[in-house]
Amino acid sequence: MAKSALITGITGQDGSYLSEFLLKKGYRVFGIMRRKSELNYGNVSHLLDKITILDGDMCDVNSLIQAMKISQADEVYNLAAQSFVASSWSQPVFTGQVDAIGVTNILDALRIVKPEARFYQASTSEMFGLVQEIPQRETTPFYPRSPYAVAKLYGHWITVNYRESYDLYACSGILFNHESERRGQEFVTRKITMHVARAYHGDKTPLRLGNMSAKRDWGHAEDYVEAMWLLLQQETPDDYVIATGETRTVREFVEKAYAQAGFNLRWEGEGINEKGINTDTGEIMVCVDEKFFRPAEVELLLGCPEKAEAKLGWKRKVSFDELVSRMVKHDIAQGVAKT
Ligand code: NAP
Ligand code: GDD
Repeated sequence: MAKSALITGITGQDGSYLSEFLLKKGYRVFGIMRRKSELNYGNVSHLLDKITILDGDMCDVNSLIQAMKISQADEVYNLAAQSFVASSWSQPVFTGQVDAIGVTNILDALRIVKPEARFYQASTSEMFGLVQEIPQRETTPFYPRSPYAVAKLYGHWITVNYRESYDLYACSGILFNHESERRGQEFVTRKITMHVARAYHGDKTPLRLGNMSAKRDWGHAEDYVEAMWLLLQQETPDDYVIATGETRTVREFVEKAYAQAGFNLRWEGEGINEKGINTDTGEIMVCVDEKFFRPAEVELLLGCPEKAEAKLGWKRKVSFDELVSRMVKHDIAQGVAKT
């Protein structure tokens, strides 16, 4: 009998790559999707003949119990979340309901319907926030810096608690930033690559960004979904940091992305006055806009993937340069429309 997997957040970036990965392994894939006023299957539109979409919402435990009953999932991947950190200040309660209480809802659904099923929780490097150690590893103390990270910390600990209370096979993957050609357009990497593509196609509007000195450990989502699966194939459940072990500033991402499209930048000014100037034409291509500053910032993330590499045999394949190059090429090929 083929194994069956249930993915919450199947329409998102990771949900789509994980679906493709599990289908290749011969799984029957079920996904939960919340109702929208306009039907839109997001990143899994191309998979609809191979997967089963079930109606559900992380805030509605009954719909999650139904999804467990229908799918009889052997593995449950909880990827659903309000995942945009900036929006968690404008919608802190909703973020808590989905990213924190939603995790208890799906854990209870699993426990009631099929307690032997294996459970993956999408934890995040944002939980390290104001970092207490560099690099961050599984033992590094947490210090969340946003309503999103606080909610995710609850999700992380309720997963540990259900593992210890009910002897569930439940794990958290503490994943550092991972991006792709399917990344949501509000996240900084995709915002940059889409703007670069517009510049390539002749748009001269400068790119407006917030804190360009923030550092992130960026990998490609395709590599990270393999780690999710590996976490659920071990003898005993455990939590793992998944990261590249390299960190770059937003500014470095900007430089690489523009260079990929044939634009070389030099930087002038500081802080709010910093500008990225086209070295050939002298035009301003990048500037700072306070609107994108956050009430509390996570300045530096750098993960240590040693435990995952040693115990899971996981290693990232896509380098930083390849990540940027793939995203820029994709967006240029799309001929991105002006927003
Ligand atoms: P994403 O693209 O924003 O996808 C989030 C998914 O959750 C979407 O399918 C969304 O559905 C769904 N969702 C949101 N609220 C829901 C609700 N109330 N009920 C049911 N579904 C709901 O995020 P991602 O980048 O794929 O990330 C996947 C998970 O990993 C998230 O939990 C994120 O917090 C976590 N994570 C991501 C990263 C990263 O760098 N990407 C790093 C660490 C952890 P709609 O289409 O309806 O909005
Ligand atoms: N989005 C955005 N837009 N971020 C900007 C901008 C801008 O115009 N300018 C600077 N930044 C900075 C942010 O302040 C942050 O320091 C960094 O770029 C990355 O921002 P995002 O791409 O929005 O991602 P994130 O790191 O806040 O969160 C992502 O990664 C987490 C894992 O560490 C999300 O995917 C989370 O869901 C995930 O948990």
